[in-house]
Amino acid sequence: MEKVTLPKILIIGENSLIGSTLLTYVKDNFEVYSTHHNSKINKKNSVQIDLVKEPQKLVDLITKIKPNFVVHTVAYPNVDFCEKNHDAAYFLHVIITKKIAHACSSVNAKLLYFSTDAVFDGIEGKKFSELDTTNPLSYYGKTKLEAEKVIMKISENNLVFRTTVIYGPFYNSRFTSWVLDNLKQNKPVPAFTDQLNTPTLVDDLCKFIVHAFSNNLSGIFHAVGKTCLSRYDFALRLAQKFNFDQKLIVPTISSETNQVAPRPKNGCLDATKLEKLLNFDFCDIDEGIQFIKDHQP
Ligand SMILES: NC(=O)c1ccc[n+]([C@@H]2O[C@H](COP(=O)([O-])OP(=O)(O)OC[C@H]3O[C@@H](n4cnc5c(N)ncnc54)[C@H](OP(=O)(O)O)[C@@H]3O)[C@@H](O)[C@H]2O)c1
Repeated sequence: MEKVTLPKILIIGENSLIGSTLLTYVKDNFEVYSTHHNSKINKKNSVQIDLVKEPQKLVDLITKIKPNFVVHTVAYPNVDFCEKNHDAAYFLHVIITKKIAHACSSVNAKLLYFSTDAVFDGIEGKKFSELDTTNPLSYYGKTKLEAEKVIMKISENNLVFRTTVIYGPFYNSRFTSWVLDNLKQNKPVPAFTDQLNTPTLVDDLCKFIVHAFSNNLSGIFHAVGKTCLSRYDFALRLAQKFNFDQKLIVPTISSETNQVAPRPKNGCLDATKLEKLLNFDFCDIDEGIQFIKDHQP
């Protein structure tokens, strides 16, 4: 029988929330390669790389594997850290991403990069579309926007998904794990009422990634859940669904806390363009929370 050749995919940062989830969605239909950073992973096709200290190791890996698709999930997720450490943020988000994009282009691989609602100022009270003007308020947002521009300039074949507040059933889903851990211990959960986002179920995002690759999609797309809400409302719905005391969720105003970086008040994005193109929908927040309840490890 003829041997089927599967497309090759390289996941940079297999321990990230997206990377770890994506592994399960690609394992049957792709030849999978990955990189990890601080964790001890000992398996075939997974290489440990510190992108800050040894970026050339990744460039060499891409040149050797010649993947069809590269999914770049590595970033500093802490927006306040980036505000206080401009050089580090610029290096990882822009300089390293540029090196990765050049390496991908040299072997004709499609690069998928994840950007954020922080590329917008969030002043208007609507869901932002791909046609809206960007104006990042934070240094994190500035570096992510510059990285978008760099990768799309290097190859129009590349893909950017702008996403917000990714969550899923596993522990590396930071917001939901923090809320549920506190509620379990009967501890109060201060949650912002004045910053809105469109939380995105990581499993939906991974399904969209696979569909986008099989449809050879290129360009910049918003890839987010359907519901625009505050962290306070998100936390309340988590408490309700998991049967915890909703009174433990404490309404909090962001300006009364010590957040360093400015955030958009409205970070809600509109994923209609991507949904229409791929004929597939992101779930709303209640469906997403039900999903994580049904898939607790
Ligand atoms: N999570 C969200 O809500 C959200 C929203 C919008 C956009 N995004 C973007 O989506 C992408 C993935 O997000 P995520 O939440 O899945 O990521 P994540 O869970 O925060 O993971 C980030 C990854 O970066 C790796 N990393 C950090 N420094 C590194 C270095 N020097 N060398 C190699 N790897 C390094 C970390 O590895 P170690 O843990 O081993 O250090 C980790 O696996 C990022 O670009 C992020 O900016 C995320």
